[in-house]
Amino acid sequence: MKISLSEAAWDKSDVDIVALAIPSGKTNLNRALGRIEIVTGKGSIKPLASDERFEGKPSQTLKVTAGGKAKSRWLLLVGIGDSKEAQKIAWNLGHALASNAGAQKSGALELPEVTSESVRAASQGLVAGAYRYTEYKSDKTADTTLDSAMILRVPKGAQGLNAAVRAGKAIAESVNFARDLVNCPPNDLNPVTLARAASSESKKLGLSCRVWNKARIEKEGMNLLLAVNKGSAIEPRVVHVVYKPARSKKKVVFVGKGLTFDAGGLCIKPAASMVDMKCDMAGAASTLGIVFAAARLKLPVEVHALVGSTENMTGAKAYRPGDVYKSLDGKTVEVINTDAEGRLVLADVLTWAVRKLKPDYMVDHATLTGACLVALGPFRAALYTDDDAFASKYLDAAQGEDEAFWRMPLDSELRSTLKSSIADIKHIGGRFGGSITAALFLKEFVGETTWMHLDIAGPAFVERAHGRLPKGGTGFGVATGVRFLESLG
Ligand code: BES
Ligand code: MN
Ligand code: ZN
Repeated sequence: MKISLSEAAWDKSDVDIVALAIPSGKTNLNRALGRIEIVTGKGSIKPLASDERFEGKPSQTLKVTAGGKAKSRWLLLVGIGDSKEAQKIAWNLGHALASNAGAQKSGALELPEVTSESVRAASQGLVAGAYRYTEYKSDKTADTTLDSAMILRVPKGAQGLNAAVRAGKAIAESVNFARDLVNCPPNDLNPVTLARAASSESKKLGLSCRVWNKARIEKEGMNLLLAVNKGSAIEPRVVHVVYKPARSKKKVVFVGKGLTFDAGGLCIKPAASMVDMKCDMAGAASTLGIVFAAARLKLPVEVHALVGSTENMTGAKAYRPGDVYKSLDGKTVEVINTDAEGRLVLADVLTWAVRKLKPDYMVDHATLTGACLVALGPFRAALYTDDDAFASKYLDAAQGEDEAFWRMPLDSELRSTLKSSIADIKHIGGRFGGSITAALFLKEFVGETTWMHLDIAGPAFVERAHGRLPKGGTGFGVATGVRFLESLG
């Protein structure tokens, strides 16, 4: 989408559709609609709004024909409630415009406040709201969106706003990249094609991307990842993308769970739980999205994305409950339930990252446990770390991007549930606290590194659109990860 800045006011904008922010509350609502009617003609909007019960509440929108002296043919009224948060309003305006444009091709929006943060948020919302997944639709015309959008009433010569547009676009494009990967069906997206997608995007951005095949993974000794891969007809991959600016203040490693399909292995999932398990590589997708965004924004931080990818399948060659494998770290691990495969893959990748990359911060994204959905619902991710300052920095970043995280405890008293009678450790705990015990298992492999685990099993893939999350793959975590990186610069 082409996004440009303009000094013009909305009524002078010759575009197909204009989005305007409308507050709630009788007085404010009437005043805002009254101002519009000065342009569109007396009685042209208020009766329609009341007819449709449009009250300016957040998430309410109303599309009406403009008419009168307005140059655009359509108006999109976007409810903002009593919000004063310029940045959120801007994101919502952009998002609402791009997602409700219908067949219209050119749009414009007027921000209540023009700052570089709000211009960036509007641009981000526009590109994220224009997201459609039409790869497998024969008729792609039903799902079109805006080709161009204008941000209006931008004072002439205002500094840094073009850069803000570029930043917002770059972040949303990286979010959309992650969404595409998650939405891609598992017969087409497998570890090999996932690695290819990462390589080709890396190439476009001039980043180094190393891909390990099975032989190389064997040579490294990632036996836990290899165990999970045993039941699959497709080779595993480890993908390592590096963005290294000339001068960097910190080194941050993002690790992602890349299960391109999780059937559960021999402990097979029931059909209803298996149907969306193409989403089990969402951690990998977000991890890649973050490093690509960091590169697009040229952030002054060294960023690594490290993805462990395989399918988890059944069959005569599949790993079994009761098997014991030696991790890269050297610990022997007893497998109890083959459906708890993500933590096995992550354990080896985390070990490698700690040893070889020595990060200042390490963050893993993983659709790790159903228990996390039980605890926090479908729209919120769990955040685990022992480092309070790191937690609050990350939660601040999340707030800035309106992504929902909740800090969870790494309760050491549950560590004993991971004791194995025949090996050094078993990979699952008891019936209770399943998201916590999964995090405790990962913690065994990170040594002294400042580490955070994000269980994104809920918000990575959703059954219905909610807030910033579209139905299906959401790209959850990308925007927050980027904002965290910016806070280090
Ligand atoms: N990929 C699943 C977790 C998941 C569930 C992600 C729902 C997204 C939506 C994970 O590999 C898994 O199967 N976990 C098991 C662990 C259990 C066997 C200890 C689970 O949560 O049931
Ligand atoms: Mn599983
Ligand atoms: Zn899984």
